[in-house]
Amino acid sequence: MDQEKRLALVSGANRGIGLAIVTALARKGVHVLLGSRDVARGEAAGTPLVAEGLSVTPVPLDITDQDSVAALAERIERDFGVLDILVNNAGISLDFVPDLSPVERMRGALDVNVLGLIRMTEAMAPLLAKSGRGRIVNLSSELASFARRHDPTWPYFEFRLPTYAASKAAVNALTVAYARDLKGQGIKVNAICPGYTATEATNFAGTRQPEQGAAVVVDFALLGDDGPTGTFANEDGEIHW
Ligand SMILES: NC(=O)c1ccc[n+]([C@@H]2O[C@H](COP(=O)([O-])OP(=O)(O)OC[C@H]3O[C@@H](n4cnc5c(N)ncnc54)[C@H](OP(=O)(O)O)[C@@H]3O)[C@@H](O)[C@H]2O)c1
Repeated sequence: MDQEKRLALVSGANRGIGLAIVTALARKGVHVLLGSRDVARGEAAGTPLVAEGLSVTPVPLDITDQDSVAALAERIERDFGVLDILVNNAGISLDFVPDLSPVERMRGALDVNVLGLIRMTEAMAPLLAKSGRGRIVNLSSELASFARRHDPTWPYFEFRLPTYAASKAAVNALTVAYARDLKGQGIKVNAICPGYTATEATNFAGTRQPEQGAAVVVDFALLGDDGPTGTFANEDGEIHW
C-alpha cells in the first residue's frame, strides 16, 4: 500500500450511513476497511465499490464480541502496522421493539453503542497512535443533547427514544474523555450527528440521504492538525451538549 495513503476502519458499514462513509472516504483516496458483523453482507456491500476501482476491503467485525474486535486489531497490526481513522458508526436503537422491557432495551443499546465503542477505541488506539494524525469519529445524535431536549421549539422535541438517547449521551461523555486521554498521541476524537437520515434504523422515515449524513463525518475523519477535538457537532457546527 502507498505509504501516504491513509487507512480507515468503519464499523457497521454494510449499509446505511456507514456504507456511505466508506464510499465517500474511498473516493477521497483513503483505503477503507468495511466492518460488517455478517461476512456475506459485508462482501455484498463492498463488491460494487471495488468494481468502481475504490480501495475497499470488507472485514468481519462484531463490536459486541471482544474476540472479533481483538482479531481485527491484530490483523491491522500485521497487515498495515498502523491505523489513521476509526469511525465508530455501528449503532442500534431498541426503543420501539415491543417485546423488550426498558431494562432490556437499555442493556442492548449499551452493549453496541457504548461498550462496543469502548472495545473498539481501546483496541484501535495503539494503532491510531502510530499514525501520528489519528482521528476517531463517534456517531452520536442530537437526541442526546440535554440542551435540545429542554427546548420545546426544537423540531424533534417530541421524539421519544429514551434508551437510545441515554446511550448516545454516554457516547458524548466518552468522546470528551478519550479526546483528553489521547490528545498527547496526536489523536482527535469528535462526536458527530449525521442528521435524521433515511436508513433501516429510522424505517427510512429520515428526511436526509445517507450521503448527506456521511459528509460531515468524513470532514471530521480527515481533519487537519489544526482541527478541533472533544466536540459535538453536525454539519451546521457545534451542538450544545
Ligand atoms: N439514521 C439516523 O437518522 C441517525 C441519526 C443520528 C445518528 N445515527 C447513528 O448513525 C449510525 C449509523 O446509523 P444508520 O442509520 O446507518 O443505521 P442502520 O442502517 O441501522 O445501520 C446500522 C449498522 O450497524 C451494524 N451493527 C449493528 N450491531 C452491530 C454489532 N454488534 N457489530 C457490528 N455492527 C453492528 C448493522 O449491521 P447489520 O446489517 O448486521 O445489522 C448496520 O451495518 C448509528 O450509530 C446511529 O445511531 C443515525
